[in-house]
Amino acid sequence: MTDHETNAAALPRLNEPAPDFTAETTVGRRSLEDFAGRWLVLFSHPADFTPVCTSELVSFARMHSRFQDIGCDLVGLSVDSRFAHIAWIRNIEEKFSVTVPFPIIEDVSMRVARAYGMVHSEASDTATVRATFVIDPEGILRAMLVYPMTTGRNVDEVLRLVQALQVSVSYRAATPEGWRPGRNVVATPPETVLEAAERVAEGGECRDWYYSERHLSTD
Ligand code: BEZ
Repeated sequence: MTDHETNAAALPRLNEPAPDFTAETTVGRRSLEDFAGRWLVLFSHPADFTPVCTSELVSFARMHSRFQDIGCDLVGLSVDSRFAHIAWIRNIEEKFSVTVPFPIIEDVSMRVARAYGMVHSEASDTATVRATFVIDPEGILRAMLVYPMTTGRNVDEVLRLVQALQVSVSYRAATPEGWRPGRNVVATPPETVLEAAERVAEGGECRDWYYSERHLSTD
């Protein structure tokens, strides 16, 4: 039996194709390939009608347009049924005055959860942990965050993560701690003695051979 056929956590690997899925959601059947050509944040939560999950869903819903503005779709998932999801998002609309505009996958069979290593048996055999996967427009897994049940995610940080990944792909640069759009990026480390010497000779924003900032022109 493989890890994916058990409840064991087997996280997919970064920079490899994200596990394929087809699943029923609150807006109909969706497959990974439906999101091809756009960035995708796929996030799981332990259960519907729980406080931390609700606070996260409200925040993802409120920030949905900011994700759309950067070409990124959102998809939620829990092992509850889509009927529970529908009741939950209707309740959120009533109590928090926010519409959840993105699909939430029903994963009663845990097929998607297992493929993505969202079930960690030390936490629960029957609920997904708070896992977040960022998948690029080619379907490659670029980042993942795994939080325990008791700690809510920061949706602003998820947005920042997607923005940072997009900049790294577009400019072949890396983003330093706390980077925000508009701030300097850093050049990836030189790989040869010659490249190191060239970096130093550049002067400018080069603090030393291994630490060289770059200003991105947005013109
Ligand atoms: C919550 O979302 O509030 C939650 C879910 C499972 C365990 C603890 C908290």
